[in-house]
Amino acid sequence: MTKMILASSNPHKLREFREILEPLGCEVISQHDAGIDADPEETGTTFAENSAIKARAIYNIAKCAVIADDSGLEVDALGGEPGVYSARYGGTRDDIAHNDLVISKLAGVPDEKRTARFVCVITYIDENGAQSQFVGKFEGRIGYEMRGEHGFGYDPIFMVGDISSAEMTPEQKNAVSHRGKALRAFAEFLSSEKK
Ligand code: IMP
Repeated sequence: MTKMILASSNPHKLREFREILEPLGCEVISQHDAGIDADPEETGTTFAENSAIKARAIYNIAKCAVIADDSGLEVDALGGEPGVYSARYGGTRDDIAHNDLVISKLAGVPDEKRTARFVCVITYIDENGAQSQFVGKFEGRIGYEMRGEHGFGYDPIFMVGDISSAEMTPEQKNAVSHRGKALRAFAEFLSSEKK
């Protein structure tokens, strides 16, 4: 069984990673459960850089297989904002404030120019220190109000057809989401490595 540390202590992420990787014979443990207390500064300007920073910080301490992800929302009419600043957009960590800010910045922007996507980059570092990355994208557009009770972050304003991603069940969202896609690409890589 391949054992790997997830460079996060977010229980929501741990569950999503386990759901996809455990059936492949991988044991995923959180950095907290591995007894590692590291919170590296995300100084990169891309999701790929920040994802690698998180994975490398844990690998340098644990010297075993590590997986990390970095994700966020890119809004085309805002030049790709909030991007790598998604979790701290507008200087707060408050999801409702983030959603209000995006909606207010898009005031007067018509439907066809409200295109946006969630992006996720997963970094895997194997026990020998070799690094691989996997990208997933989830296309949609920004709505005009918050809708739905599921999910987190920008889900209530991220429209996919007529519903927001906060109106999708976790299973529906996993099937089409950036994190689901990146995780499945990683899972395919792991399965081919084992052959
Ligand atoms: P990080 O990947 O933990 O650095 O967080 C990225 C930030 O992007 C989160 O705090 C959310 O604001 C946003 N984000 C990433 N993925 C999603 C998603 O699936 N739904 C809604 N917001 C997301």
